[in-house]
Amino acid sequence: MTEGNPRKAQQIQGEPGLRSLAPPIYPATVYCCDSPQQASDLLAGEIDGFVYSRDGHPNSDMLAARCAELHHADHAAITGSGMAALALAITAHLKQGDHVVVSHQLYGRSLALFTSEIERMGIGSTQVDTNNLDAVQSAITSATRFLITETISNPMLHVADLRSLAKIAHDHNTLLLVDNTLASPVLCRPLTLGADLVVESITKIMNGHSDVILGCLCGMRSSWERVALAATTWGLFASPIECWLGMRGMATLSLRMERASATALALAEQLAGHRTITAVHYPGLTERTDHQLATRQLATGIGNPGYGNMLTIELAGGYDAAERFIRAVTPEIPFCPSLGELTTTLSHPETTSHREMNPEQLRAAGITGGTIRLSIGIESADSILAALERGLQTKA
Ligand SMILES: Cc1ncc(COP(=O)(O)O)c(C=O)c1O
Repeated sequence: MTEGNPRKAQQIQGEPGLRSLAPPIYPATVYCCDSPQQASDLLAGEIDGFVYSRDGHPNSDMLAARCAELHHADHAAITGSGMAALALAITAHLKQGDHVVVSHQLYGRSLALFTSEIERMGIGSTQVDTNNLDAVQSAITSATRFLITETISNPMLHVADLRSLAKIAHDHNTLLLVDNTLASPVLCRPLTLGADLVVESITKIMNGHSDVILGCLCGMRSSWERVALAATTWGLFASPIECWLGMRGMATLSLRMERASATALALAEQLAGHRTITAVHYPGLTERTDHQLATRQLATGIGNPGYGNMLTIELAGGYDAAERFIRAVTPEIPFCPSLGELTTTLSHPETTSHREMNPEQLRAAGITGGTIRLSIGIESADSILAALERGLQTKA
């Protein structure tokens, strides 16, 4: 199982004369053992090395070591997707009769996982607005094992107060699990704010090149006891080539996030007040109620502070305006329902990521037919603005 052990990762960098600057790829499914004693010691983790790739392999170890370093984590596990990293947290920590408190603004699939899916396993859940700390306090019961939130929610980009949520969780003997995908470790390291477990969908800006589905779970020693066993037993591993690609993408993570964040802020400021836009949602805008919190919290990562690459706008003309806007801005800004790509993309939450919500839930989340979510890439702000302006000028 992938443990992010830097000693193990160094050991696999190659013999003298074979020390490639780029890491090699190890596609092997199984490794040869010298003796029964060595096999036993390897499997027990008493000596460093690999036996069977579902338990761990060099490429996932290298990537896990990097994720652990980025998050100041004691441990990291690489999984086949961001959803698998959340599933790993569940299989490692929860059992029948437990209960979780979950943000009602989680990514749709995550919300389904932490409500209807775990309910099938006899685990209860309560949805709350994790920006309302009193509501969080009241939702926790003596059976609550996890409090789950996202650092920056989607698509309204609300910033959760992780330090306060960690305190509430710990006062009730509960773990705080944070999905940090929209912030990435460039802007925020939840473990340094008191979180116990952090998930990243590496698929998004961590890899950033739209060619890998991967996830990671990072944690401290105290929250890790069953993780390795759960990962290998439930088969939640990732393939060597995916890990290698993820490593390559992550080499430029800070550069990409810092550039995209600066561009997103400039665009948010320019779009606010545009006559065909009724609202701009971006934590970097000073009038936001969570702006000061965002300024503090999104400066706890490895990079320069910023407010992220995600920006959501509300078009005055509702669904019809969204259709016209999307037709006018593509192909320069493609309609791709994901985020964190190299280039700017857009999504329409009502018909994609949030399509399973009923009208009341959509209203509570503030999503309408005119909501457009932008994932800003590394192009120049001027070129993105020119494409957006074209979309904003379309008439019925
Ligand atoms: C915030 C967030 N967390 C987790 C996931 C799941 O990640 P993956 O698609 O890598 O399973 C997504 C996917 O869109 C996401 O947006």
